[in-house]
Amino acid sequence: MPAKSSSTGLTESDRNDMEPEFWHERWALGETGFHQLEFNVHMQAFIDRLGVHAGDHIFVPLCGKSRDMLWLLGRGFHVCGIEISRQAVEDFFSENQLNPRVDELPDAVLFAHGNLDIYCADFFKADSSRMLPIHAVYDRASLVALPPAKRGIYVELLTDLIPDRTRCLLLTCDYPQQEMSGPPFSVTPVEVNQLFGPRYLIDHVHSQDALVNEPRFRQKGLTRFDEHVFILQKKG
Ligand SMILES: C[S@@+](CC[C@H](N)C(=O)[O-])C[C@H]1O[C@@H](n2cnc3c(N)ncnc32)[C@H](O)[C@@H]1O
Repeated sequence: MPAKSSSTGLTESDRNDMEPEFWHERWALGETGFHQLEFNVHMQAFIDRLGVHAGDHIFVPLCGKSRDMLWLLGRGFHVCGIEISRQAVEDFFSENQLNPRVDELPDAVLFAHGNLDIYCADFFKADSSRMLPIHAVYDRASLVALPPAKRGIYVELLTDLIPDRTRCLLLTCDYPQQEMSGPPFSVTPVEVNQLFGPRYLIDHVHSQDALVNEPRFRQKGLTRFDEHVFILQKKG
């Protein structure tokens, strides 16, 4: 019998099955505390470590309506996101006064505007080869949005998609998981090494105690909340 989580009463496989529905509900209810109005400081600090230049293509998996995509476009990159919630994608364009071209594809809906393509689709099911070319990856609040059993599959899909030596900017958070049920889930640096180590060179470039910046997590009783920044490079 699979173990049930004491906090939610759900088994791991229950959680996996309900996951798209879970996210549709978050968006419908406006429970999107993860969305940042400010451009991410770690992205701005470490983007140059990805070795990319204007005109290169940045892939943003599980992109939500992240305004970081605007910042990347402003730096001259092409941006390609994938996001399961149509509401998130539509909100992104309307909130930023952009009028996208919309194309219905067999397993996705493509919203395109200038150098930005956002595919509304399930990353675990869609044909991601459409996202190519990819010169770098930006993951903020994406890996940590996934329950443990899905993280390995996510890493495998991502790794199979991108060319050798592609770099990824990965932001994670790490906190006592028993103090709060995710998402965001706690993904420790040890787990990052387990997930990515076999196929990536890993540079753990920054860590900080971020509890002071996260009142919503302090209110939930968290006693520690650390942020970590990694530059990963797929082995050649
Ligand atoms: C915590 S949010 C982070 C969004 C964005 N990366 C940001 O920084 O604001 C996670 C996002 O992943 C999306 N998502 C979850 N599962 C997905 C899947 N299987 N395929 C595509 N998007 C997914 C959710 O709808 C949600 O918008």
